[in-house]
Amino acid sequence: MSEKLRLPAEESYAAELKALSVGDQHRPPGWALAPRQVVTYLMGGKAADGTPITAKYVGDKRLIETAVATLATDRALLLLGVPGTAKSWVSEHLAAAITGDSTLVIQCTAGTDENQIRYGWNYAQLLAHGPRREALVPTPLIRAMEGGKLCRFEELTRMGSDVQDTLITVLSEKMMPIPELNTAVYAQRGFNIIATANNRDKGVNELSSALKRRFNVVVLPLPGSAEEEVAIIVKRVGEMAHSLDLPAPKNVADEVARVVSIFRELRSGSTEDGKVALKSPSGGLSTAEAIAVMIGGISQATFFNDGRLTPETLANNMIGAVVKDPVQDTAVLGEYLETVLKKRRGFEGYYASLTDLI
Ligand SMILES: Nc1ncnc2c1ncn2[C@@H]1O[C@H](COP(=O)(O)OP(=O)(O)OP(=O)(O)O)[C@@H](O)[C@H]1O
Ligand SMILES: [Mg+2]
Repeated sequence: MSEKLRLPAEESYAAELKALSVGDQHRPPGWALAPRQVVTYLMGGKAADGTPITAKYVGDKRLIETAVATLATDRALLLLGVPGTAKSWVSEHLAAAITGDSTLVIQCTAGTDENQIRYGWNYAQLLAHGPRREALVPTPLIRAMEGGKLCRFEELTRMGSDVQDTLITVLSEKMMPIPELNTAVYAQRGFNIIATANNRDKGVNELSSALKRRFNVVVLPLPGSAEEEVAIIVKRVGEMAHSLDLPAPKNVADEVARVVSIFRELRSGSTEDGKVALKSPSGGLSTAEAIAVMIGGISQATFFNDGRLTPETLANNMIGAVVKDPVQDTAVLGEYLETVLKKRRGFEGYYASLTDLI
């Protein structure tokens, strides 16, 4: 096993990508795989030579088809959704499959300025030799343009609207002017942008309508059914436990089903049978959070509980996910425990340990 904590998708799944690239395919210019193969890479299936391809995204195939088709046009792709709906995950895998490079990423924050998007200068070079190409420090965006790759913008709406608008010329003209050198960088074929944005966070800067027009929006939803959500979590927890070298306890799937049923009820504000209305906690309680709860629980079980994954080992992690606002969310959880969980068969352990902790 590699000593790195995590490898980029194109390295972790190099064998799958190679198998998918074999054969005569109609590829858009600059693409490493044909659109159909990109969708197979994301949704799972078989390569032409029979190599099994694992599913990366679990959900509606049409969404991924729309995303892939968008990237083959001159419009950029914006993956929108509440936290933990696999936006970053899908964006990384799309970049890996389409251009074989998922590492050209710009993390947008309120402090991101234009130089982090366009280009910076190496001041030692600039002072010694004056403005020239060697003194220019390319950003991931410039490198993507020059290499015909995909540039990923994480949390696009977190940076100021004025900075976002830097992208307008890049997206419409496919070039970046460099007035200091009296020149411009022209994008190679294959270049495009995948942005992610979270539509729930506070402090987001809405995209200007000029920029919005240049993006095709694909909304990634929360999993539709409990079974689907359990399947996603069991799969990801298995993969993550393996990469962290944690042995996966036998009862993982059962406990995932229980945690998911609690999370879904709290998230939706009603019990599964629709009979009891509930209050929802302030946090999102996404699939990603359920994954984190399980991994935390497995780690605790491995190191402190002889490998036994019990409601007690999970409860602490669950409190962390549910109670984001100590006053309000504790009351919401307390009410849920008393009105719903107390009477439910199979959840006695969760009722007891969660009640103990709040
Ligand atoms: N439908 C899904 N299919 C596969 N994996 C999923 C799905 N939903 C969530 N996940 C998993 O959830 C984890 C978190 O996803 P990711 O970080 O991409 O979320 P995000 O939408 O970017 O969230 P944020 O808005 O907080 O950045 C990933 O490990 C991913 O595998
Ligand atoms: Mg993300």
